[in-house]
Amino acid sequence: MDWGLENRLNRILKPDTGRTVMLAVDHGYFLGPTSGLEDPGRTVEPLLPYADSLMLTRGVLRQCIPASSDIPVVLRVSGGTSILSELSGEGLTVATDDAIRLNASAITLSVFVGGEGERETLLNLAKLCDVGQKYGIPVLAVTAVGKDMVRDARYLGLACRICAEIGAHFVKTYYCDGFEEVIANTPIPVVIAGGKKIGEREAIELAHNAIKAGASGVDMGRNIFQSDCPVGMIRAVRSVVHENATVNDAFEIYRQEKDARG
Ligand code: R5P
Repeated sequence: MDWGLENRLNRILKPDTGRTVMLAVDHGYFLGPTSGLEDPGRTVEPLLPYADSLMLTRGVLRQCIPASSDIPVVLRVSGGTSILSELSGEGLTVATDDAIRLNASAITLSVFVGGEGERETLLNLAKLCDVGQKYGIPVLAVTAVGKDMVRDARYLGLACRICAEIGAHFVKTYYCDGFEEVIANTPIPVVIAGGKKIGEREAIELAHNAIKAGASGVDMGRNIFQSDCPVGMIRAVRSVVHENATVNDAFEIYRQEKDARG
């Protein structure tokens, strides 16, 4: 790995723990208006001190995040479909020079293994990995899961392994039973998405189980910004990721923050 690429990756996966708390707010790229992200700048502002990076589109970055912010940016560079269409037909939406101009610490796209867009999205991943290698920018592959796919260790393991083989530097997937198997077969760091909003304790437990199974962190969105106490949630998840906090201790952090804010 070259110096620039390694340095950028170290801005996201913190060298002291080898783990990361990524805050994902890119949902609008295919969902459009998303509850909690009506005003993304306002949503993320109190969360930034507790996030190791921010995953978002260039539109939201340019319009809503002050350039004075020093949060590392994981720039989503795929899209072109919406919830009204066949999602797996994503293409690349950002030119390399714009990603560099926006000072992206990593670039990211979704791949749809087993979906109609499998070939196209995996070939896009390959193109992006070439860009990443050329300019020293790490690539995060996101394993999107079609409605008719089962989120089990066999499927997610297959998708993650393919991303690693193509050259992704880290991969985001979903937690599942037998997650240790996914980790064992994926020779790059794996972070988990939070998925749809669930109870706060349940989301903390999800992060805890993933870390215990060997995940390198979380790239969490809705379970943080749709919580009744987003700061409490990100602080709780952070304690699990970077301090190996127990579920009870982490939940207590959330609870106390919520109480303090009334
Ligand atoms: C989906 O592909 C988006 O990239 C989101 O960033 C991702 O799903 C993580 O957000 P959440 O924790 O809300 O699932």
